[in-house]
Amino acid sequence: MRDPLHLVILLSLLVRSVSVAASAPLNDDVLGLIVFKADLLDPASELASWDDEDADSPCGWAGVTCDPRSGRVTDLALDSRSLSGRVGPRGLLQLRYLRLLSLSNNNFTGTLSADLAGLDGLRVVDLSSNALSGPIPDELFHKCGSLRSVSLANNAFEGELPPSLGSCAGLSYLNLSSNGISGPLPAGVWSLNGLRSLDLSDNSLVGEILSGIESLYNLRTISLRRNSLSGKVPEGIGGCLLLKSIDLSENSLSGGLPDSMRNLTMCGSLSLSSNSFVGELPDWIGEMSSLQTLDLSRNRFIGHIPGSIGNLRMLKELNLSRNGFTGALPESMEGCKGLTNVDLSRNSLTGDVPSWVFELGVQRIC
Ligand SMILES: *[C@@H]1O[C@H](CO)[C@@H](O)[C@H](O)[C@H]1NC(C)=O
Ligand SMILES: *[C@@H]1O[C@H](CO)[C@@H](O)[C@H](O)[C@H]1NC(C)=O
Ligand SMILES: *[C@@H]1O[C@H](CO)[C@@H](O)[C@H](O)[C@H]1NC(C)=O
Ligand SMILES: *[C@@H]1O[C@H](CO)[C@@H](O)[C@H](O)[C@H]1NC(C)=O
Repeated sequence: MRDPLHLVILLSLLVRSVSVAASAPLNDDVLGLIVFKADLLDPASELASWDDEDADSPCGWAGVTCDPRSGRVTDLALDSRSLSGRVGPRGLLQLRYLRLLSLSNNNFTGTLSADLAGLDGLRVVDLSSNALSGPIPDELFHKCGSLRSVSLANNAFEGELPPSLGSCAGLSYLNLSSNGISGPLPAGVWSLNGLRSLDLSDNSLVGEILSGIESLYNLRTISLRRNSLSGKVPEGIGGCLLLKSIDLSENSLSGGLPDSMRNLTMCGSLSLSSNSFVGELPDWIGEMSSLQTLDLSRNRFIGHIPGSIGNLRMLKELNLSRNGFTGALPESMEGCKGLTNVDLSRNSLTGDVPSWVFELGVQRIC
């Protein structure tokens, strides 16, 4: 027992449970929430409604949603309520029917307890934008049959990605962006074949992007931006046919664009900026017909801009700046009727700005 407050609360709950046991089933949820709150600071009194520990049900309490039939707590959503303190497992573990835990945008601190793995009905966990730290416990993902969506983004988590992540085949959204996660991408990540959105941007990941990504055939969005990944983009990426957005910018990736990418005809945004990609921009780029944003800036691409780029009818932003492109802009670019931003600066392009530029709605060309 850490402090007298806890002792008083637990004793009073114990007395209460003995006294109600005869008449009504004890509501573990009331007890769990009061114990959870005892670990928190609530300077804005957002949880004032949680004060009645003799309540029969917590279902009317701020941020609490219950299943109307069973009366058990299913959702705890306390986003942006200026709370601080720890995400204490002891209280939460009483909430045996909890499906959603959302505590984003507060000031929670400390490490995540491996005991939280006991919440095995959880589907959605959002702890983003707090000040949580330490390693992400491996145990959390050992049995994660029900997890669908996990965000731990924008905290101070450290250490490597837990290898057990690979057992979360039902996971469709994973966001660990903006932490201090280091080490390699574990191969297990590529067995998450329910995944639609993967955001590991703004961390300190190193090593190569291993092959196997083609198993993520449900993937719509991937961002590995701002890490220290090296090596080539795996050929398998073209197997993720539903990809709409790819952001691999600000890494140390090298080699050329894998040919399989030509099959990504639903991809609207491709950002490979600030890497060490080399070679010519392949002719097949014109087959990626949904592209609205193409950012290849700050790499080592060379050669002519292929005429096929004129087939990108949806293109709005084209950034080829800081490469080694040569020659003139292809006339076919007249076909890119939606272009608004074009940055071709710091290349070795020749010729005048063609007249069609002025006929399109280009707002910015550099
Ligand atoms: C977190 O705490 C700091 C200082 O204690 C405070 O300035 C900040 O506004 C808090 N942030 C939130 C989201 O409550
Ligand atoms: C990941 O979380 C951050 C912070 O909450 C957010 O800004 C970003 O859009 C999220 N990424 C995705 C792909 O949803
Ligand atoms: C593109 O998809 C087609 C049809 O699925 C496949 O046969 C071909 O090998 C793929 N191209 C590349 C370069 O991967
Ligand atoms: C193009 O990319 C460069 C380098 O990444 C960046 O500084 C510049 O602002 C971008 N241009 C436009 C028009 O967004």
